[in-house]
Order: sequence, then C-alpha cells, then structure tokens
Amino acid sequence: MAGFYDKPMILCLIFTISFGLFLSYTSAELQRFLHPAKTDGSLSFLVIGDWGRRGYFNQSEVAFQMGKTAEKLDINFVISTGDNFYDNGLIDENDAAFEESFTKIYTAKSLQKHWYSVLGNHDYRGDAEAQLSPVLRKIDSRWLCLRSFIVNAEVAEIFFVDTTPFVNEYFTDADGHKYDWREITPQKSYVTNLLKDLELALMESTAKWRIVVGHHAIRSVGHHGDTQELVKELLPVLQANDIDFYINGHDHCLEHISDTESRVQFLTSGAGSKAWRGDTTELNREGLNFFYDGQGFMSVQLCLTEAKIDFYDVSGKVLHRLHTSKQLHPSI
Ligand SMILES: *[C@@H]1O[C@H](CO)[C@@H](O)[C@H](O)[C@H]1NC(C)=O
Ligand SMILES: [Zn+2]
Repeated sequence: MAGFYDKPMILCLIFTISFGLFLSYTSAELQRFLHPAKTDGSLSFLVIGDWGRRGYFNQSEVAFQMGKTAEKLDINFVISTGDNFYDNGLIDENDAAFEESFTKIYTAKSLQKHWYSVLGNHDYRGDAEAQLSPVLRKIDSRWLCLRSFIVNAEVAEIFFVDTTPFVNEYFTDADGHKYDWREITPQKSYVTNLLKDLELALMESTAKWRIVVGHHAIRSVGHHGDTQELVKELLPVLQANDIDFYINGHDHCLEHISDTESRVQFLTSGAGSKAWRGDTTELNREGLNFFYDGQGFMSVQLCLTEAKIDFYDVSGKVLHRLHTSKQLHPSI
C-alpha cells in the first residue's frame, strides 16, 4: 500500500499521541481509520470545500468563523470536500501553497484537529500524489488526504470517495488542462473497483449514521449542476445502502437538496473561498431546501438519535438547519 502506510509505526505513534487516533488494519480494500467520538457518544465536525486561495476571496474570514464554531461545538475533526489548492493543486510536496493556503489560514486552536480531505478536479491538475504524501503531515500534522478511505467515528461511519476519475469529460475534453492520472488509468477499472470496494464496505457497515463524501455533487442547482456519471453509477449504491447524507463541494455554494426517491440528503459545502458565481440550473427544484451562492461552511452534530446540520455564512450567521431524528431501535 502506498502513501500513508509507508512509515506506519512512526505515523501511528504520532497520531495516537496527538489525536487519540488509531489505525486499524483490516482486509478491506479501502483504508480505514478509527476516530473515537466524544465520551458521551456524540460527534461533531465541520465541512469546508473549494478553499485554498492564500486567504483571498474571504477564505480568511470563513476560517475565522470556522474557528469560533469549532470551539463552540468542540469539534472532533474537519472534513475537506476537495479543490484544496487553487488553481492547479500543489506543484510538489514542498509547494509553499500548502502552508500559505492551509497552515497559515486555519490557525484557530479549535481547528487544530484532524482534517480528512479528498482531492478535487483542481487538485488533479497539479501533483495529485503530493497531497497524499506523508511529507505534508510532517509540515502540518492535521493533514490527511487520501483518494478513497473510511473513517469510523463510532456513531457514524464516513466513506470518502475519489469522484474526479468518474467524470469522463476530464479524460476526453480536458480543456487545455493536464490531469495527473497516475494510479488512475485505466479509468474504467479504477472506477469499477472503487465502486465495488465502496459497496462492500457499505453493506458491512453497522454504524447508526452513514455518510458519503466526494468532491463532485450528485445533485446541485449550482453552476455545475448534477454530475451525470455519479447519478448513474454512485447514486444507486447510496440509495440501496440506506445512506443518510452525501456531502460534496465543487459548486462554490452551500446547498441542501433531498433525494426524491430515497432518504439520501445531498449537502454541498464548497464555499470556502471564491463564490458568488451568480448562476443556477433549473434542475432539482422538487427536492431543493436551501441554496446560498456566497461563502460559508457547514457543521454536523450527531448523536445516536439526532442529526443537526447547520450552514453558516461568512459572518457566522446560521442560514439553514437540517434537523433529523432516528429511532434508537428501528425494529420496535
Ligand atoms: C466577502 O463576503 C461579503 C459578505 O458576504 C461579500 O459582500 C463580498 O462580496 C465577499 N467578497 C468576495 C471577494 O467574494
Ligand atoms: Zn471542483
């Protein structure tokens, strides 16, 4: 296994000391991490996407509000939905953009937690493997970016999916961009294997809340709209396995859309810096609960019976809340 397990003992020790995080080795294809919930069994985390612009476009303002909310909620970790570094990912492991857009921006004490991150399409336009490298974790030990992986946070299991390779257009009509497809080609078998691994892991999951995270939206009313490949290939897997939330970035906005065919809720948090695109699609009006075109972020609070998801703007104001509950024993 490449990347994270290159120096497993040292890293495991470092993570165990700093975060109480334990790696668990299983036979499953997707790498798994155990991140304990709070002592009362609850879990809270923030979600941010599409952010790395050296503080510009309100990135620093969003970071400041994230720090305040993270402190209030005593978060366990942060999730990044990708497009971590603009415009073209990182040049290499030593790219100063890593510190200029991450370490020096998200400085609040309350944000000194693990950042579980996926890659976005812009990240694939640079050295994609640099973001997965243990070298970055030496610079800033919060950083943990992998292509696809699972975080078991007890009350919830979170499945991170590398969605960029699903999108055919990046392969056939790259629009002048160069993508780092090392480890990805052939595309078809990469996607097929990923879906197979994901499906297996979802079927085995016994967590109360099941959350899937990817960069690209399945459903969106924002600029990019739906990602057809994900609607066709990923959505049926989520519907069949009783997923609660699909969380993504890519569209630089905040949104909450309900699936019209299942209980899946689509949540976009891609408003970490440049936003205000000013255009929407006419899709998904039926399931649309909330759309905000400006900057902001999202918080998720979970316990066995309840989920509270809040969307915040750049001033920290809550714009929308999704509150759902679950029975403790669904069979009764
Ligand atoms: C920053 O946020 C404010 C408040 O939403 C907004 O008016 C302003 O246009 C934003 N700046 C940029 C560069 O997006
Ligand atoms: Zn994107």
